[in-house]
Amino acid sequence: MILLSKQAIKIMDYSIESAPLETLQCDCIIVGIYEDHQFSPSATALDNSTHGMISKIVSRGDISGKNGETVLINVIPDSRIESILLVGLGKKDLLSGKNYRKALFAAINSLKKPQIKSVACSLAECEVIAGDWQWKTRQIIEVFNDAIYQFTAQKSDKDTESKLQKISIIAPESEIASSQAGLAQGQAIAEGINLTKLLADLPGNICTPTYLAGQAIELGKKYEKLTVTILEEADMAALGMGSFLSVSRGSRQPAKLITLDYQGGEKNSKPIVLIGKGLTFDAGGISLKPGLGMDEMKYDMCGGAAVLGTLLAAATMQLPLNIVGLIPSSENMPDGDANKPGDIVTSMSGKTIEILNTDAEGRLILCDTLTYAEKFNPEVVIDLATLTGACLVALGRVASGLLGNDDALCSDLLAAGETAHDSIWRLPLWEEYQELLKSNFADMANIGGKDAGTITAACFLSSFAENYRWAHLDIAGTAWRTGQTKGATGRPVPLLSQYLINRANA
Ligand code: BES
Ligand code: MN
Ligand code: ZN
Repeated sequence: MILLSKQAIKIMDYSIESAPLETLQCDCIIVGIYEDHQFSPSATALDNSTHGMISKIVSRGDISGKNGETVLINVIPDSRIESILLVGLGKKDLLSGKNYRKALFAAINSLKKPQIKSVACSLAECEVIAGDWQWKTRQIIEVFNDAIYQFTAQKSDKDTESKLQKISIIAPESEIASSQAGLAQGQAIAEGINLTKLLADLPGNICTPTYLAGQAIELGKKYEKLTVTILEEADMAALGMGSFLSVSRGSRQPAKLITLDYQGGEKNSKPIVLIGKGLTFDAGGISLKPGLGMDEMKYDMCGGAAVLGTLLAAATMQLPLNIVGLIPSSENMPDGDANKPGDIVTSMSGKTIEILNTDAEGRLILCDTLTYAEKFNPEVVIDLATLTGACLVALGRVASGLLGNDDALCSDLLAAGETAHDSIWRLPLWEEYQELLKSNFADMANIGGKDAGTITAACFLSSFAENYRWAHLDIAGTAWRTGQTKGATGRPVPLLSQYLINRANA
């Protein structure tokens, strides 16, 4: 069993620098060029100190300043600067947060060359609509971190990893405090994202419920205010979690219910509860999934991984909040003892459920966890789950689905998603949809037919979340990328971290 070491989730070394550009010791300096040949302040400064080198390249037409263009200038005569990367930023007055991030991605992607180990990034000086120095500093770290991450844990040849080690973010004296605050947040969130991605990218034969529980325990050892406890199947049986246990019965891997209790706030303040679906492999059970692409169902624990990543970020930032993370973890496999279509189980809430499709297992493990969450007397409960393929049909891989029983909570989450550029979109939870879950034989069915799959899944969950303010994030389309760049994204760690930061500041 490989245990996650600090090394494995380590991010690059980031610092804030305010020394003049020409005096910096680094392999490359990143500066911005706008459309219409306008220069960022640092581009102007470097142009002056290199006898108009940048002006020459721009007037030659090598870069027009369109967002995302890059030109690497490799030899700088009579200068201690090794190289300069020009990055197109687009129209000066229109630099949106989204385009700022795009330019950052283009910049870092063009610097994954072996000879470049240290980089100074001057782009935090660029005016961004609704982006202050703190936000811009944080985005540099988050975007660079995202682009540099590579899953090599199971590769013999680790030489493909980027050699980049050190990033200096340039800020004037007057903005250092704000930039430092962004740096601290960015580092914490980036580490949380790395942990989430790494756990998610690990295959199902390594990342089992037992492994996930082991990682949670390791995480708990690193933070004084974080206490981790694991409920075993016998504990869950004693609590009456008949729905959750019906799923794990079909697997040889024992189920775990992981609790992470972070006490950063006042003793009596109610906790924010985060619940993450931790299905370490979803074969569908007796309602077996088709073979093509089934490997991607190792990602069915991305919600759980994101809860771990978010708690890591919150604990690192030492947020003055109480936060409880709950991760129901199981496999969903076909087996002689697995759930069969038509089976009826009794949930911890007492409600009976007719399992018409064993592949709708996420809601079966989440419903008992939602009931269990009541014991924490939560301020709010947010669950995150790779719950429905239908969410991909509705929203693609751009936004996560948001559904909930509380408008204020939903609008807080929407706002956090916008700031963090980790977007979500709300879908309705009207009672008309609840009709679709009627069962002839039990209190409810676990599926609602072919219409409105994301909504009926959330409707199912809502029946177990009636006693508190609750929101559900369907991350089926956003938690990982498919195809050539297959890999975990770490979403919605940025969104949840932002939500928690906003709560801490409120
Ligand atoms: N984990 C899947 C949802 C999923 C499917 C996420 C594809 C990402 C990509 C979930 O357990 C599932 O199988 N849901 C079923 C529900 C259906 C049987 C009502 C689905 O979406 O097909
Ligand atoms: Mn399933
Ligand atoms: Zn699933």
